Amino acid sequence: MSLSPDFFDWLKARQELINSALLRYVPREAGYAARLFDAMHYSLMAGGKRLRPIFVLAAAEIFGKPYEEFLPAACALECIHTYSLIHDDLPAMDDDDLRRGKPTCHKAFDEATAILAGDGLLTHAFYLLAHEELVRHFPPENIIKAIRLVAEAAGLKGMVAGQMADLLAEGRKVDADELFFIHSHKTAALIRASVLLAPILIGATQEELNALAKYGQNIGLAFQIIDDILDLVADEEVLGKPVGSDLAKEKATYPALFGLEASREKAKSLLEDALSALSPFGVRAKALSDIAYYVLERKL
Ligand code: IPE
Ligand code: IPE
Ligand code: MG
Ligand code: MG
Ligand code: MG
Repeated sequence: MSLSPDFFDWLKARQELINSALLRYVPREAGYAARLFDAMHYSLMAGGKRLRPIFVLAAAEIFGKPYEEFLPAACALECIHTYSLIHDDLPAMDDDDLRRGKPTCHKAFDEATAILAGDGLLTHAFYLLAHEELVRHFPPENIIKAIRLVAEAAGLKGMVAGQMADLLAEGRKVDADELFFIHSHKTAALIRASVLLAPILIGATQEELNALAKYGQNIGLAFQIIDDILDLVADEEVLGKPVGSDLAKEKATYPALFGLEASREKAKSLLEDALSALSPFGVRAKALSDIAYYVLERKL
């Protein structure tokens, strides 16, 4: 198996769906705080692959559920992801000037505005997870589970802890165990939660959730390894963010620890583990399987 020939049409259609949903679900207001909304929308609508919300829709496909019901939840994940990029680029963190092919939020606006735009997006994500449209479609106990899932994955059991570990690892050599902590927390946790979000809202069985968690964890780890590789070998024009940023900051990355070739091999073996977790779902998991191949083959 490999990427279906119609995958890129499928991906583009989903990206457009998410883009229009983001415009609908993320407010933009005039008035005294207009600059906050401008900065949020600047970063949110600058491009981006929309992979996390697309994971939500692709996992919903397994259960044959109409995607419209999941759009507020899918947008919540893109809000959290975009906030994490805005803060990740700040001078106090990775200090990068280019994101999604445009000046980073703190460059286009200023640091305080970028911090607040991130805060706004993060907070709004939880508003969306409790959105009345979700309340109309899913049982309240499932919505509470979904909120808990995302809070853990974005926060102290996931991304925020991973970002802390990433910064603390700058400029020194880490071992495989510490690198695994960084990658699994800063990146894989939110991707795993994206895959689990729709199944949790629907009330999937524990067995189904376990299989999808395995897929999400493995593809999340592969995703960050490829991100590390692209930071070394990509074309900056295509990537839309600085190439060589990790080297300049002496970041703990997979290629830095194991070399490029071993990193590619590791990503491939994670892809295989991710795909094998999908086998109980058969063709119903076609979209998730395609995304997994895409994560490995992507150039941005
Ligand atoms: C970049 O994520 C940050 C990581 C977690 C590696 P993406 O590569 O998904 O960024 P966008 O959303 O497409 O810009
Ligand atoms: C960031 O990892 C992961 C986040 C949670 C934002 P990176 O710092 O490698 O992401 P990029 O390369 O700047 O997108
Ligand atoms: Mg970073
Ligand atoms: Mg960064
Ligand atoms: Mg990176």
